[in-house]
Amino acid sequence: METESQDEDSHHERGGCPVLVTERLVLRAPHIEDTDALAYLANNARVATMVSRMPHPYTRKDATDFIRRSAIGAIGKCIYAVTNAEDGRFLGCCGIEPQDDPVTLELGYWIGEPHWGNGYATEAAHAVIDMAFRTRDVECIDVRCRVTNLASRRVIHKCGFQFQGTGMVNSLALGSAVPVEWYRLDRKTWISLRSWAAA
Ligand SMILES: CC(C)(COP(=O)(O)OP(=O)(O)OC[C@H]1O[C@@H](n2cnc3c(N)ncnc32)[C@H](O)[C@@H]1OP(=O)(O)O)[C@@H](O)C(=O)NCCC(=O)NCCS
Repeated sequence: METESQDEDSHHERGGCPVLVTERLVLRAPHIEDTDALAYLANNARVATMVSRMPHPYTRKDATDFIRRSAIGAIGKCIYAVTNAEDGRFLGCCGIEPQDDPVTLELGYWIGEPHWGNGYATEAAHAVIDMAFRTRDVECIDVRCRVTNLASRRVIHKCGFQFQGTGMVNSLALGSAVPVEWYRLDRKTWISLRSWAAA
């Protein structure tokens, strides 16, 4: 988990989605300057087939639409561009969105393939989870990953999520439903994890 000071560095409210600063990342609203990097990194079947609503192939127009729609809250209430704190480079996206159940949010993330294996997804997920539990009246955060997605399952485990069951989710890129695993992190577990980290 991230340190307390990283959370305290969070600032600049964006409609309830504060900018989040971690050791190596800045999570902020996607903006138009991200278009080229977003279009390039998202146009990858290894990314698109692991998330539910990313078109494939992914065009520049898809990128501009995504940025515009995320700005007006049409995709999810809190969509972040995950960027490198040192040079501002766009690395991927992370977000939480409301579910039918008002006390549950769903977490999603992807990182561009050139940047895999550096711990960025875990670091970004920790920051978004911390923000959600600290600033919102939510009891649970859910996440789903394809049963074949070993890297994402590892991220999920590293965040303390507990396995709930299996199911099917539609994949836009594949044009069909795919089997997924469903995990949940509840507030009590999150508090315990935070305490363990402090100890
Ligand atoms: C899943 C994804 C977000 C991980 O991003 P990342 O920044 O590389 O993740 P991290 O570095 O924080 O952690 C990845 C972990 O998975 C492990 N991993 C990677 N590939 C693996 C594999 N084939 N089998 C088992 N573990 C694997 C890494 O070793 C690492 O674990 P470790 O820290 O214990 O060594 C990235 O691969 C991605 O964007 N994939 C496509 C989109 C996607 O799957 N999104 C999630 C949808 S649920």
